[in-house]
Amino acid sequence: MKVIRHSHEIYSQLSFARKGGSTNGLVPTMGALHEGHLSLVKLAKENCDLATVTIFVNPTQFAPHEDLAKYPRTLDEDLERLASVGTDFVFTPDQESIYPSGFSTYIEPPNVAQPLEGLFRPGHFRGVATIVLKLFNLVPADVAFFGSKDYQQLAVIQKMVADLDVPIRIEGCPTIRESDGLAMSSRNRYLNSEERKKGLGLWNALCRARTLLAEGEVSVPVLESAMQKVLVDSGVSSIDYAKVVHHETLQDLQKVDSTAIAIIAARVGSTRLIDNLKLEVN
Ligand code: PAF
Repeated sequence: MKVIRHSHEIYSQLSFARKGGSTNGLVPTMGALHEGHLSLVKLAKENCDLATVTIFVNPTQFAPHEDLAKYPRTLDEDLERLASVGTDFVFTPDQESIYPSGFSTYIEPPNVAQPLEGLFRPGHFRGVATIVLKLFNLVPADVAFFGSKDYQQLAVIQKMVADLDVPIRIEGCPTIRESDGLAMSSRNRYLNSEERKKGLGLWNALCRARTLLAEGEVSVPVLESAMQKVLVDSGVSSIDYAKVVHHETLQDLQKVDSTAIAIIAARVGSTRLIDNLKLEVN
């Protein structure tokens, strides 16, 4: 496994490999890696000749009051984990090389960035879209793998790539969960045991919506209030949203008539968790 800090080096190594006929699968991350990230690397290995992981805590996707400074940085452990799943290249640029002084060009994200996280984290997807496009330019790849836990992020990236004709395929991959259902997240390490129990409320609320739909309840207001109730009963006090929305546009729905997404963002203690579940009418 080669660990590379410099943009020109990762670019030339992967351009050379791809000219020689090798395909490269890219897994962009902010580090603090868990089984969810490793599952993306495994998929990259299965689908491509090479797997490349980027580790960069991207400051432009954090608002000033958010957790940039305390975001977990665990590079040594991350590298061990990446080596254990056969990663070929790891790109760990420093902040100055990605955002040199005078940097001033940003991506205006697509419409799908506006609801949900767009309302609660204004500017977040502008930062995500900008860094992801930069990484696509710096790290030549055929396919990029993203987890579906960040459902709206995946939708934003898919649309950006389509709208801007970026020559890379985006693969949305399943959310990896703990045995009780809690979605794996780098932020779970902030939770104490009490908060960890409360955090499970997100998954239970999503499952409640799925069960009600299976029983024939298609009214979105009813499904949403059922999710709210599960969250509140679980002790999740601060709910940004608990909604059922269109699976592509992420716009509001009145009833579920085919596929929809149940999607939640809520705070447990000071930790903000997100999760989602696809709902399908049989
Ligand atoms: O999902 C993440 O870890 C980040 O948002 C990403 C895609 C690596 C961009 O910084």
